[in-house]
Amino acid sequence: MTQSAKQWYASWFDTPYYHILYKDRDYSEAQGFMDNLTNYLNLPEGGKILDLACGKGRHSVYLNSLGYKVIGADLSEQSIAHAKQFENETLNFKVHDMSKPYPDTFDAVFNLFTSFGYFEDENCNLETIKSIKSELSEYGFGVIDFMNVNHVIDNLVVENIKTVEGIDFHQKRRLEEGYIIKDISFEVNNVSYDFQERVKAFTLEDFQQLFEKAGVYLLDVFGDYKLGTYHPKTSERLIMIFK
Ligand SMILES: C[S@@+](CC[C@H](N)C(=O)[O-])C[C@H]1O[C@@H](n2cnc3c(N)ncnc32)[C@H](O)[C@@H]1O
Repeated sequence: MTQSAKQWYASWFDTPYYHILYKDRDYSEAQGFMDNLTNYLNLPEGGKILDLACGKGRHSVYLNSLGYKVIGADLSEQSIAHAKQFENETLNFKVHDMSKPYPDTFDAVFNLFTSFGYFEDENCNLETIKSIKSELSEYGFGVIDFMNVNHVIDNLVVENIKTVEGIDFHQKRRLEEGYIIKDISFEVNNVSYDFQERVKAFTLEDFQQLFEKAGVYLLDVFGDYKLGTYHPKTSERLIMIFK
């Protein structure tokens, strides 16, 4: 089965194989990041958070355990179906396209773990920032946690094989026409699968242009999950706080 690059994110993120490949995600690091971020933002007690592109809800569930009212929203029906088992009165999950405004306002809107820059139609990236703006309450903050492309490009592993649950995932990475592309191929029960991840290599300057067009203001930039200083060459993350 070969998936076309068009709307790769709508198919690949909805497969079980995506979740198998990345099952070793670091939950304690993600939780530490949420502790640091919510402390820094000084969100009101019981404040409302939208976790945009929440996947299976790992950040949403933890934020809710800290006392926040959380909506987790994602395009992937499979991920939302999985996350719904964690729902309670103050934690809900919805299938939603982040380039469209969610019909409510929040004290914070989080877009975490490089969940931006996937769209074929580049205008949808700007529409996503505009949508986040519309989702912020008067004192609300937007947060985008993106890869630092400079660091990623300098450390690109061109090819490797990762074996998870007996599946050999062959991964090839390259920078092509401003996109970081990862080809992933593997075989399960004698069926070959090929998927591609394609993420726009946005720099801080690219985001600043988007923010200006969308009419939001960049307040702060951090370079890691401990909210350390952002260094353009060496930081692993590009974490932007805006309103
Ligand atoms: C790298 S994953 C991160 C998931 C989650 N934030 C986490 O840290 O586990 C990116 C997520 O973006 C979602 N996504 C892609 N395009 C989307 C869109 N247009 N609207 C909402 N979610 C989208 C995918 O389904 C996937 O769950």
